Amino acid sequence: MSRALSRTLALAATTATILALVVGCSSQPETQMSIEPVTDKSTDCQQVACVALTFDDGPSQYTDEVLDKLAQAQAPGTFFVLGKNVSKYPETLQRMVSEGHQIGSHGFAHKDITTLTREEIEHEVQWSAEAIQEAAGVNPTVFRPPYGAHGAVYNRLIPTPLLLWDVDTLDWSHHDPAQTVEIALDEVQTGSVILLHDIHESSVAAVPELIQKLRDQGYVLVTVDELFAHTDFTAGAVYTKLDTSAGANRTP
Ligand code: NI
Repeated sequence: MSRALSRTLALAATTATILALVVGCSSQPETQMSIEPVTDKSTDCQQVACVALTFDDGPSQYTDEVLDKLAQAQAPGTFFVLGKNVSKYPETLQRMVSEGHQIGSHGFAHKDITTLTREEIEHEVQWSAEAIQEAAGVNPTVFRPPYGAHGAVYNRLIPTPLLLWDVDTLDWSHHDPAQTVEIALDEVQTGSVILLHDIHESSVAAVPELIQKLRDQGYVLVTVDELFAHTDFTAGAVYTKLDTSAGANRTP
């Protein structure tokens, strides 16, 4: 049995114990932080105004705090993790899965794929996927190319859709939670993909207010897979936001 599997089984046993305790003590208020998926997987983003929050470059020392804030808000996120960081935070990745978030790949070592050989790109994809599988037992279903750098000749080597973004909060540049929220709210549209980085404390700090204000405007937060669930979401193709040019109920 692999160590990762042992860890997963141990976690499952602990989870079952906690569940049994919660169910067994139904007269007590439930103060346990939710371990249920935080999102309704049936959300149809062709019918409601969806937005996806995405977090790049982790996991890091701040990622668990992001997960705490998402749990408090009952909001899902999508994490584009770097393979080289994953082995340092396997429990954090297991938490992402058990709490209903999505894990995407950001490559192994944050390399611009347009500067790599075919073999190097395949390694970036494969090594990252292996690290994610080892830590959390899932395969990444989307790939975000570092720096957003892509091109037809490179994209066709990626075995999943390539997911860019349409709202860049520039959180990595200004390190100001208020600006992060302001830029996101200025630029957000129905179907937007919002870019944040879970390697900066200032980005973590922006999360609660950002979620609240997006919801105040009528947006429903979803994972990337949910955002594109009712569309043609194809391996090797590039997406920046959900195309909402057809259909009803397009604005919040
Ligand atoms: Ni990055």
